[in-house]
Amino acid sequence: MSILDTAITSAILYLVFLQDYCISNDSECLTLDISITQKVEYEGFHRDIKWLVEILHPSKESWLSLSCNLALRLDISSGMFVNPDEVADLKRMGKLLTYVDGNVDVEAAAHEATEHSIYVYLNNSQIDKLSVKLPVHLRYQRSQITGGYGKIPLAKPSLLTWCPANDTKICGRGLKVEAPCDAEALTLCVWKNQTYQALFDEVELFVPVGDLDDYPLVSIVTLLLGCAGCIYILSVLSTAPL
Ligand SMILES: *[C@@H]1O[C@H](CO)[C@@H](O)[C@H](O)[C@H]1NC(C)=O
Ligand SMILES: *[C@@H]1O[C@H](CO)[C@@H](O)[C@H](O)[C@H]1NC(C)=O
Repeated sequence: MSILDTAITSAILYLVFLQDYCISNDSECLTLDISITQKVEYEGFHRDIKWLVEILHPSKESWLSLSCNLALRLDISSGMFVNPDEVADLKRMGKLLTYVDGNVDVEAAAHEATEHSIYVYLNNSQIDKLSVKLPVHLRYQRSQITGGYGKIPLAKPSLLTWCPANDTKICGRGLKVEAPCDAEALTLCVWKNQTYQALFDEVELFVPVGDLDDYPLVSIVTLLLGCAGCIYILSVLSTAPL
C-alpha cells in the first residue's frame, strides 16, 4: 500500500508541478490584442485598400520597449494586382514600406495572370494607431457574351509579428511564416501569423466585364464621333469673324 501511496503522491506532485510550470510559462508571454479595420475606396479598375491597425494591448510604451515588428501580408488573387513600379515609388518616398513576392504582369487579363503576395511593413514609431493605404488594380476579365460585372474576392490580410529579442514571446499559437525581415528583403525571418480582431467583413470587388464582341462597333462609333467633332470645330472656326 505504501508503494501505491507514494506513487499516487508523486503523480499528484508531478501534475501540480506540470500545471505550475504551464501557468508560469503562460504568464511570461505577451498578450497582444490588435484590431484591423478595412475599407476599399473608389469604383472601377483602380482601388485603394485602407487598413487601420490598432494595438489595444499592451500600451504604446511597453510595445515600443519590446521592439517587435508588425507586417501585413495580402495574398492577391489573379483578378487583381499591385503595380510594382507604383509601390516602389511609394517606398522611395517613405510612404509605404512593401515587398512584392512573385512576378506581376501588369498587362495580363485575369484568366492569364498569376497570384502574388505583398508584405506591408508597419512603422513601429506610430504604432498605437496605424493607417495604411495600398493601391491595387483590378484586371480585365475574360469577355462574356452578356457583359455585366465580374466578382473578385479580396482576401483578409494576415497579420505577422516578429520579435528579435528571444525572450519576448507573444501568446497564442500562430503558425510560423517565413518572410522577408523588412522591405529590403535581404534576409528571411520567422514571423508568427497572429490572430486579430477583424472589424470588417470579407468583400468581393465588382469589375465591369468587357464585351469584346462590341469592340469593332465601339471603335467605329468612336471614330465617327471624333470626325464629327473635328468637322464641327472647323466649321465654327471658319465662320467665326476674324
Ligand atoms: C515612421 O514614423 C516616424 C514618426 O511619424 C517618422 O518620423 C519616420 O520617418 C517613419 N519611418 C518610415 C520608414 O516611414
Ligand atoms: C494566417 O492564419 C490565417 C487564419 O488561420 C490564415 O487564413 C492565413 O492564410 C494565414 N496566413 C499565412 C501567411 O500563413
